[in-house]
Amino acid sequence: MFFRTRVRLRGHICPPGDKSVSHRRALLSAVAVGPSRLSNFATGDDCRSTLTLLQHLGTEAHREGDTVNIRGRGKLGFRTPVKALNAGNSGTTARLSAGFLAAQPFDSQLIGDESLSRRPLERVVAPLRRMGGRLETEKGHLPMTIYGNRNLKGIDYKMPVASSQVKSAILIAGLFAEGETRIRETVPTRDHTEIALQAMGAELQLEPGQVTVQGGVRLNGQDVVLPGDFSSAAFYIAAAAFLPDSEIVVERVGLNKTRTAMLDVLREMGANIEIETLDSVAGGEPIGRLVVRSAPLSGTVIHQERIPFLIDELPVLAVVGCFANGTMRVEGANELRVKESDRLNAIVEGLRAMGADVEAFSDGFEIRGGKSLQPCRLASYGDHRMVMAWAIASLALDGSCDIDDLEQVRISYPSFWTTLEQLVH
Ligand code: S3P
Repeated sequence: MFFRTRVRLRGHICPPGDKSVSHRRALLSAVAVGPSRLSNFATGDDCRSTLTLLQHLGTEAHREGDTVNIRGRGKLGFRTPVKALNAGNSGTTARLSAGFLAAQPFDSQLIGDESLSRRPLERVVAPLRRMGGRLETEKGHLPMTIYGNRNLKGIDYKMPVASSQVKSAILIAGLFAEGETRIRETVPTRDHTEIALQAMGAELQLEPGQVTVQGGVRLNGQDVVLPGDFSSAAFYIAAAAFLPDSEIVVERVGLNKTRTAMLDVLREMGANIEIETLDSVAGGEPIGRLVVRSAPLSGTVIHQERIPFLIDELPVLAVVGCFANGTMRVEGANELRVKESDRLNAIVEGLRAMGADVEAFSDGFEIRGGKSLQPCRLASYGDHRMVMAWAIASLALDGSCDIDDLEQVRISYPSFWTTLEQLVH
């Protein structure tokens, strides 16, 4: 792999549409009544998996550039799929669609790629079964068979894991259930489903630590412009924060507080980041403009309660930790073990291969920063976010790294390499 090394980043970027919001808007637009126009829809393979799955259920969903038009036919407007529904590499597709498939009158089967087939599903199957859903998995993994059932009942559910995917699957099933469905979270997670549901006419009650949705309420299609994906922009934000003499501007990026804890952490570390919040985009998601300039950074501690708000940013934050003075410690991040790869293992292994001083824990790691790092081979385990984190690390080294699975950026950020080339000076 070719990289110019020891570079600085300069320029403007407009990150692609938010992946989390795109999945939710696509699914909810399909169960809504009337047309929805979703502009700035995510460009990666993951959201393509959601659209294809909906098409196999008879939903009219058409893409023109970065706009997706969906004709919602109501909650029971789907047709029996003729073959297994393939969620590809996408955990969000698998878990969120389990929520509405559990409430459909027909049987369906969900499959995924090798990585997705290793990821845990019991967390979503257990609450859906409590609602009356009939789902069978292969020892808690895909493939999953979902038997038709029109009689889900609302539940009061205390989340045993901090997962927005699970919360969202239950909320979606709750739309179809009799009575109300209440979800209690001890550690809050991203709230895009709640925002979209409210905007589309659901009856939702939000209280600290809990959300309640009323079953049987109709959703309305909507035209929305989706925010730029903070988790995609995060790679360049992190890079510009530590690569000397860098300055980048990030335009129209989503600034939902349940996603942007990385900005708080970087600022605590000494980063120079200006945040300008713009008007809300349609649909209630805040967006803004960031200016990131490099500055000397020092380590920090990231505790468990912050983890869900920066879970996808941890690989690149770990890279930043290597170039900061002092110690960066991450605790309570065991969810990283069940992402597209075991990211805790991948992070620790890759940083050590470069020569970083890293201690591994079962639920996190500690990096003693400031060591001189060397180019090397970096394993990504087929995980898009590991590939991009290693690309950022290699920018700071003298010589080029050999990074595995470069093409995996297509999952969330197909234009990642082109944008990187434009920013590198
Ligand atoms: C996501 C939630 C997070 C995140 C994933 C996308 C979502 O997973 O890691 O990339 O869109 O809801 P969990 O909710 O399982 O933590």
